[in-house]
Amino acid sequence: VLFSWCQWLENTSWATAIREGLWQFPLLETIHLLSMILLVAATAALDLRLAGFALRRQPVSQLAGRLLPTALAAFGINLVTGFFLFASEATSLYVNRFFFIKLVLIVVAVLFHFVVYRKAARWDDVAAMPAGAKLTGCFSLILWIGVVAAARWIAYV
Ligand code: HEM
Repeated sequence: VLFSWCQWLENTSWATAIREGLWQFPLLETIHLLSMILLVAATAALDLRLAGFALRRQPVSQLAGRLLPTALAAFGINLVTGFFLFASEATSLYVNRFFFIKLVLIVVAVLFHFVVYRKAARWDDVAAMPAGAKLTGCFSLILWIGVVAAARWIAYV
């Protein structure tokens, strides 16, 4: 069922235009990558703060309040452009294991984010970040790096 949906998607006129056009795919991919940079930069800054590597004098909740709207907007653009890129080559991406890994990692990273940052304020005033916070920051960082790495790999299988 999912595969025939991919076939249908790939054969829509707009998906065909993205696939066959000279500038459509590169343009979408450029926007996809720019929003990816914004998303990863914003989340990484927060992760590095949690890990205790950077911005140590900034309260965690204040930093989160500033960065998360940017991250959310960037993620929205990322999702939309990602969907159009996907549509243009849906059937081959359907069987691409790195695309699958990428999607799974995105879901895990987003879920992890909600679990963690809901309670981030408790680390606002602590002098040294506890081990749990450090682990959390590092793990989130690794997840996002994994997303980028898996995405880059898509083109080679
Ligand atoms: C559900 C949301 C997303 C979808 C559907 C999606 C889909 C895609 C597709 C179809 C490509 C082109 C792959 C190719 O043919 O080479 C791509 C490229 C890429 N995506 Fe995404 N993407 C999404 C979210 C993200 C996120 C969250 C990140 C990183 C944080 C990301 C990072 C990248 C990178 C680095 C590339 C470049 C791959 C290359 O140049 O070979 N994407 N994405």
